[in-house]
Amino acid sequence: MRKVITYGTFDLLHYGHINLLKRAKELGDYLIVCVSTDEFNWNEKKKKSYFTYEQRKALLESIRYVDLVIPEETWEQKRNDIHEYHIDTFVIGDDWKGKFDYLKDEGCEVIYIPRTPEISTSQIKAELNNGKKE
Ligand code: CTP
Repeated sequence: MRKVITYGTFDLLHYGHINLLKRAKELGDYLIVCVSTDEFNWNEKKKKSYFTYEQRKALLESIRYVDLVIPEETWEQKRNDIHEYHIDTFVIGDDWKGKFDYLKDEGCEVIYIPRTPEISTSQIKAELNNGKKE
């Protein structure tokens, strides 16, 4: 069984996230999504998510491509996760291109998937705030 892992905040789940998850699942048999906790988001990414960690986790668990959701609490946990969950492939959007190549040293494949154009959580928030969309 080929196991795939991906990381992110996945706030205000949108079709760019779904495309990423669908393509990630197609690369293997079992997809683990590692979701940033509220503390990690705030302390490390300076982002406050609209949905709580538990809400984002529940949304992801209801998606057919997702087999398991675990918390992301540190930047460094990836190396450990790869071994603990016997990961074959690490996947992330190409906004992170090159940033996680070091994980190849852990014996896993690293794949950057092209982002879906013209959609992001921050863009949704900005457009709702400035009245472009109601
Ligand atoms: N992603 C994607 N296409 C998009 C938006 C996100 O493929 N249009 C991918 C990211 O590359 C990442 C995952 O979805 O692998 C989770 O991204 P996340 O940062 O949670 O979503 P964004 O919409 O990019 O959020 P933000 O605007 O806050 O950065």
